[in-house]
Amino acid sequence: MSADLKVTFTPSGRRGTAVAGSTVLDVARVLGADIDSVCGGRGICGRCQVTVGSAPGTPASETALSPPGPTETNYRGRRPLVAGQRLSCAAQILEDVVIDVPPESQVHRQVVRKRAEVIDIAVDPVVRLHYIEVAEPTLDDDSSDLGRIQDALQEQWGLNGLTADESLIGTLQPALRQGKWQVTVAIHDASVITGIWPGFRDVALGVAYDVGSTTVAAHLCDLATGDVLASAGLMNPQIRFGEDLMSRVSYVMMNPGGEVALTTAVRDAMDELIGSLVAEAEVSREDILEVTVVGNPIMHHLVLGIDPTPLGGAPFALAVDKAVRARASLIDIAVHPGARLYLLPCIAGHVGADAAAAVLSEGPHRGEAVQLLVDVGTNAEIVLGSSGRLLAASSPTGPAFEGAQISSGQRAAPGAIERVRIDAETLEPRFRVIGSELWSDEVGFAKSIEKTGVTGICGSGIIEVVAELYLAGVVSHDGVISGEHPRIVADGRTKSYVLHDGPSSILITQNDVRAIQLAKAALYAGVKLLMGHLAVDAVDEIRLAGAFGSHIDTKYAMVLGLIPDCDLDKVSAAGNAAGTGSMMALLSGAARAEIERVATEIEKIETATEPKFQELFVGAMGIPHATDPFPELAGAVSLPARTEPSGRPERRRRRDRGSTD
Ligand code: FES
Repeated sequence: MSADLKVTFTPSGRRGTAVAGSTVLDVARVLGADIDSVCGGRGICGRCQVTVGSAPGTPASETALSPPGPTETNYRGRRPLVAGQRLSCAAQILEDVVIDVPPESQVHRQVVRKRAEVIDIAVDPVVRLHYIEVAEPTLDDDSSDLGRIQDALQEQWGLNGLTADESLIGTLQPALRQGKWQVTVAIHDASVITGIWPGFRDVALGVAYDVGSTTVAAHLCDLATGDVLASAGLMNPQIRFGEDLMSRVSYVMMNPGGEVALTTAVRDAMDELIGSLVAEAEVSREDILEVTVVGNPIMHHLVLGIDPTPLGGAPFALAVDKAVRARASLIDIAVHPGARLYLLPCIAGHVGADAAAAVLSEGPHRGEAVQLLVDVGTNAEIVLGSSGRLLAASSPTGPAFEGAQISSGQRAAPGAIERVRIDAETLEPRFRVIGSELWSDEVGFAKSIEKTGVTGICGSGIIEVVAELYLAGVVSHDGVISGEHPRIVADGRTKSYVLHDGPSSILITQNDVRAIQLAKAALYAGVKLLMGHLAVDAVDEIRLAGAFGSHIDTKYAMVLGLIPDCDLDKVSAAGNAAGTGSMMALLSGAARAEIERVATEIEKIETATEPKFQELFVGAMGIPHATDPFPELAGAVSLPARTEPSGRPERRRRRDRGSTD
C-alpha cells in the first residue's frame, strides 16, 4: 500500500496526495474540497456521503476505499445512506481514487429549481449547525459552560472567537445536561452562537418574506439544502388604512402615532404566515433561525417600526439605506429566540429593498447585455444597465395598471377580463375572463362563467384592449377613440368602445385610454431618462418583474409603448423577482455581500427633479410613442400608419405574428 496516494475530488477539481488509511473527509478538509458535515465526522449526520468516481488513469475501483465498517452498517441517521454512496467520515482511502461529491453533500451547492421563472440559487449557508462534545466541568476546571462550548468548537471545528447570543444564556446549562454534554449549536455568520440543543440535531430553517403593499408572501426554506418546504401569502392588512402606499403615508400624517397601527398590522400578517408555513411543513416555529425581508421603502420602514412620513415627499429621505441586521424578535414574530433578521439594502427613497432583491435575482450587473428591469406597481421601479454601470429610478405610474382609475377596472380576480382580441375588420371583440379557460366566442363560455359573470377588466386586460383598439384603428396614435360603428358609442363629447354588452356593460372610455397613456408615459419616460444617462439608444433585454409583469403580454406592452423597442424574444417576465431575491439572501451569505456591494454602486436618478423628464413624458403619451421608432416591434406586428391627431389610422393589413391566443 502506497503512503502517498493520489486523490481527486469532483466536481471541485481539488487534488493532492493522502496517506493510506486517511478518511475521505479528513483528506477533503486538507485539500479544501467542499463536503458538508454537522456531526464533525462522528457518523451521525449522513451529510458527508460520496461515491467513488473515475478519471483517465484512475478507473473506479471497488477496493479504493475500505469496506463499510460498523459506523456505516449501523448508520440510521435522518438522511438515509443512498445505495452506492459512502460516509466520507468513515470510508478510508486505500488506493489512488477519484471522489465524487454529489450536490446534496456540498455546503455550497447550486439548488436547481423546477419552475422556469425561478432561478437556480447557489447556497452559501448563513447559519450552520455544529455537533460538539463538551468537556464536563470538574472541581479543578473553573471555566464556564459557555467557555467549554467555545473550547469544544475550537478543538473540534477550528472555530475561534465565537460569541453567544444573549437569548442563549438561560438555555446553555439545561441543554448541556440534558444532552449529557453532547449538544448541537447553530452558528450565525461564523461569529455568533444563536441556538443550542441537547444531542444531535439537523434542522435549520429560514423564512424569506416579500412584503408588498398589496400582498405579503413568505417561503419557508431549509437553510442547508435550499429546499422550499412551504410557501404562503396574505393580503397586506394595511389595506384598511389606505389602498395604495401614499394613502397609507397620508394616514400616518393625519393620525399621529398611526405608524404604530400600520407596523402592528403588517407584523401580525408576517407572524400569521409563519403559522401557516410551519403547519404546512409540519415543523416548529423554533426551527426557524433566519429571516429575510424585502419590500418597497415604505414597507421596509413600517416593518422596522420606522415612521415612513419622510418618504411621502421630496427629498424622500430614507432612515437607513444599508442592509439591516437585527434579531428577528425586533419585528415581533414568534420564531427561535436567537433567530436573526436581515433586510436587504434600499437603493433610494423610491427604490427599495424589493428592487435590490430583484437586481440580485435578475443579475443585470453580472452580464454585458444592457438589461432593463422593471417592476410595475403604483410606482414603477426601473433598473437599467449591465456589469459596467447600473442606474435606478422610480416613476409615478399611478394605479391605472392595477385596474384603478379605469371605469370598469378591477383587481385581477375571478370575473375580470384579462385577455382581449379585436377583429381589425369587424371590430368585434373576444375576450377571456379569469376563472375560465375559454374565449368568449367559444362554445360553453357562458356556462363557464356562470358563477363569476364578467365583472370588470384587470390590468393585463386593459393593456390588451387599448393596444388592440390601437391596432384595429379605433384608438389613434395620440390616443383618441374615433369611428362610426355600433361598438363605438358617443359619451358626451368623446367616444367609448363597448367591449362587453351584458347585464353590466364594460366600456372602454376616452378617460380610460388617457389614464393608461399617462401611466405608460410615466414608465417610458423614466426608462428613457435612464437610457439617456447611460448613453444608450436601445436595450438588449427587458425583464418585467412582479405580478403585473407576469400577467401582461409583452407584445401588447410594447405596442402601447410601456417599454422601449426591443427584440420581443428578449422581453420576458421575471416572475416574483423580489421574492426570489429575498430567498437568495436567506440562503446565501455570498448573495448578501453581492447585493450590499451592488446597491452602493447603483446610480440613483431622481425623476421628479430631472428637467428632461417632462419633455420625455409628453413624447411618451403617443402610442407607441410620438416620435421614437419601434423597428423590432414593427417586424413582429403590423402597426397602423401614423396619422395626424384627428385622423383615423389605416387598418392593419395582416394578423399579428406571435399572438398568444
Ligand atoms: Fe456526519 Fe459523516 S460527517 S456522518
